[in-house]
Amino acid sequence: MLEARQVSLRYDGVIQAVDGVDFTVAPGGLVALLGPNGAGKSTLLKAVAGMLPFEQGEVAAGSISFDGRSLLGMHPASIARLGIALVQEGRQCFRGLSIAENLKAASLARPRGAATRLDMVFDYFPFLREMRQRPAGHLSGGQLQMLVIGMAMMGQPRLLLLDEPSLGLSPTMVQTVFDVVERMHHELSVTVVVAEQTVPRLLKMATDVYVLSRGRVVMHTPPAQADEETLQRVYLS
Ligand SMILES: Nc1ncnc2c1ncn2[C@@H]1O[C@H](COP(=O)(O)OP(=O)(O)OP(=O)(O)O)[C@@H](O)[C@H]1O
Ligand SMILES: [Mg+2]
Repeated sequence: MLEARQVSLRYDGVIQAVDGVDFTVAPGGLVALLGPNGAGKSTLLKAVAGMLPFEQGEVAAGSISFDGRSLLGMHPASIARLGIALVQEGRQCFRGLSIAENLKAASLARPRGAATRLDMVFDYFPFLREMRQRPAGHLSGGQLQMLVIGMAMMGQPRLLLLDEPSLGLSPTMVQTVFDVVERMHHELSVTVVVAEQTVPRLLKMATDVYVLSRGRVVMHTPPAQADEETLQRVYLS
């Protein structure tokens, strides 16, 4: 479904964030993209979603394609219309708008069926239904994370990219968020990539694991081989 070949990504023309990376995601997969701080996880996801130009970033070499179609040079809105949604770090939403308004705004690019999808998102995250009139700025970190995942689902993506959804959340909240992601993956047949440093819960549900370090893939393995101890060794080396 997604195929990055020998991809090198740079910021400001000189900062090499990703260097010659091969990364493929099969339809129906749930891929864990792991690596320590600065490994290049967010940069790779931003390149897929077409967001690099907003940070003076660029694809310096290689190819990125979705269903065999090159994504290079495409505007993020066109990439979103192809069915790719990126939930970036930082839980971006309109904090002054209500939960319902945020979810509705997220469906503007794909208005058909939006009411049904809103119901679906409320079914996955019942507290969003209960609190739908409240400003998003009043939510806790975990609740905000669920809102931004819900917003991504309003665009009916076939490929959902989640950048460090667990950041700053309590272990219970991480469990809750990943439980819902796993259900969506199964029930809605959405292909998922989750970038994280290490989350045991993610390793339990992943179908494939990539480990990045300093911009390179240092490990590509089935999840059974990516135990915490092996990852720690890779991170520390
Ligand atoms: N906007 C930017 N401008 C310049 N350099 C950047 C920018 N964003 C990231 N970098 C650099 O690119 C490299 C990869 O960063 P990236 O954010 O992709 O790592 P990451 O794996 O997502 O790390 P983390 O786990 O801390 O989020 C780092 O060296 C970082 O300093
Ligand atoms: Mg990151």
